[in-house]
Amino acid sequence: MIILFHMMLYLWQASNAINGRISKPNIVLFMADDLGIGDLGCYGNTTLRTPNIDKLAKEGAKLTHHIAASPLCTPSRAAFLTGRYPVRSGMASLHLVGVFLFSASSGGLPTEEITFAKLLQQKGYSTALIGKWHLGINCNSSDDFCHHPLNHGFDYFYGNPVNNIRDCRPGHESVFIRGIKKFMNTGLQIAGIALISLEVLHYIGLFHIPHRVLGYFLLMVSVFIGLLLFFFYNFRYLNCFLMRNHNIIQQPWSYENLTERFTEEAKSFIRRNSDAPFLLFLSYPHVHTALYASQAFRGKSKHGLYGDAVEEMDWSIGQVLHALDQWNLRQQTLVYFTSDQGAHVEEISSNGEVHGGYNGMYKGGKSTNWEGGIRVPGLLRWPGVLQPDQRIDVPTSNMDIFPTIVKLAGALLPNDRIIDGHDLMPLLQGTVLQTKHEFLFHYCNAYLNAVRWHPRNSKSIWKAFFFTPNFSPEGSNGCFDFHVCYCHGNFVTYHEPPLLFDLSVDPEEKTPLTPETESHFYEILQAIQQAVSNHTKSLPAVPNQLSLGNILWKPWLQPCCSSFLKFCYCNHEPGEFA
Ligand SMILES: *[C@@H]1O[C@H](CO)[C@@H](O)[C@H](O)[C@H]1NC(C)=O
Repeated sequence: MIILFHMMLYLWQASNAINGRISKPNIVLFMADDLGIGDLGCYGNTTLRTPNIDKLAKEGAKLTHHIAASPLCTPSRAAFLTGRYPVRSGMASLHLVGVFLFSASSGGLPTEEITFAKLLQQKGYSTALIGKWHLGINCNSSDDFCHHPLNHGFDYFYGNPVNNIRDCRPGHESVFIRGIKKFMNTGLQIAGIALISLEVLHYIGLFHIPHRVLGYFLLMVSVFIGLLLFFFYNFRYLNCFLMRNHNIIQQPWSYENLTERFTEEAKSFIRRNSDAPFLLFLSYPHVHTALYASQAFRGKSKHGLYGDAVEEMDWSIGQVLHALDQWNLRQQTLVYFTSDQGAHVEEISSNGEVHGGYNGMYKGGKSTNWEGGIRVPGLLRWPGVLQPDQRIDVPTSNMDIFPTIVKLAGALLPNDRIIDGHDLMPLLQGTVLQTKHEFLFHYCNAYLNAVRWHPRNSKSIWKAFFFTPNFSPEGSNGCFDFHVCYCHGNFVTYHEPPLLFDLSVDPEEKTPLTPETESHFYEILQAIQQAVSNHTKSLPAVPNQLSLGNILWKPWLQPCCSSFLKFCYCNHEPGEFA
């Protein structure tokens, strides 16, 4: 009898221990920016050194078919945080520009959207975002913070609310000035021709126009151009700043020790919360251009400044993982590593150095839905719960993190909206061999670009493209003439019937199938069309957060830590970082 009692007690305790561990783990999410899947040792790179990331793969699960919901930062991150396709939240653009460019624009992740941070926060988690946000700041005034991380479930924010781009770093060129010069040249030519024609008409008496009006017109054009140039030459003061919670602490930010600062912030957040469940989202500005690396890493890699930046990020990840060990949290923490999209292959500096990453065998890169744009690294580690050294080849999505961690935190999934991600735990623990993703929809901005279909109990993974980007120059592996690929009009080629590939045999997307080479060609396309029509029906009309009105610079929304006359400059970081 007593033995029986002891046995039952033991079983009860054992199951408790397991349940205790399985529920409410700490969550650490690492996200790189524009890192290519081919940049990492664990995905086959032999010359870049990423020992800490590779170790994560050894100690956990490596997803080889992990798909970002979008090939661009803003929409991909919106989908990651909400578990939903970006079109559902209005975070998908109908025009050329697909991301936020300015800190003073009114678009952003709508307040009604529910992030995993919000749900974990409600379950008692301490939540922090350290690093890049890129999902908006304000709506109506320069300090309503409607889109700010603190309004989306994070208790603590230290980082860059917008984006690190070339214009943030003196000496690293500009993504705007080149475009503006082109625009100005054409604009000036048109204005010149118009003026001369008017003068001629005036002179021969066909048309009378007072010189005063011409003068005003010229003045307005010059003021406009002047303002535009002034704005872009001062871009970094207005857009490249760091915040701690709601306060601007460094405007413009300094690249000096930037990665150390993010790392220290992450470590001290872990220390402050070592006895309570926490969510840490460490979102690196690495390895988006402008590239940078600290002294200790500059010139050390075999791949220029790009490689130095990757290796510095890997070092930082090692530091954070070490902090988990230090506080004995290794067994109670689920760690995830990914990139928001594929490498930006068009990034080449003016002196010819490659500043974009490597997508391995995959075609294209960032801004396209070729595999190179969306096939991203996906590593998950949770010692004692997930088998080490696993490799999972079935399609998964970065939207899956949402339901996975929400469930682990013991929170309920919202039931008033569609969540497109699926819980990864059954797959990671080996109780199922396939996720519920039969279809994945690939958008280029707001345009449905391609569909991936992994039929149940089939080896094939079909991918059908409704259009493909026109690479330029022709025959290259990207849109080098425009720096990114665009999603509609003359920038793409439409395909009817759609271009069909079987990724299980042709991951490089080299040979489109035809009715001759694939006997089920039309049936496959029909099944895909059916899925598209069901999916399209599930999309409600929502306000577009990336409309021109919502991405424009609105001076009254400009966050500025000093008076405008002082040029939006301040530095409240400790001296050594100044
Ligand atoms: C490793 O990454 C670098 C930098 O992106 C790239 O140039 C190189 O080709 C990659 N090497 C291999 C073997 O994948």
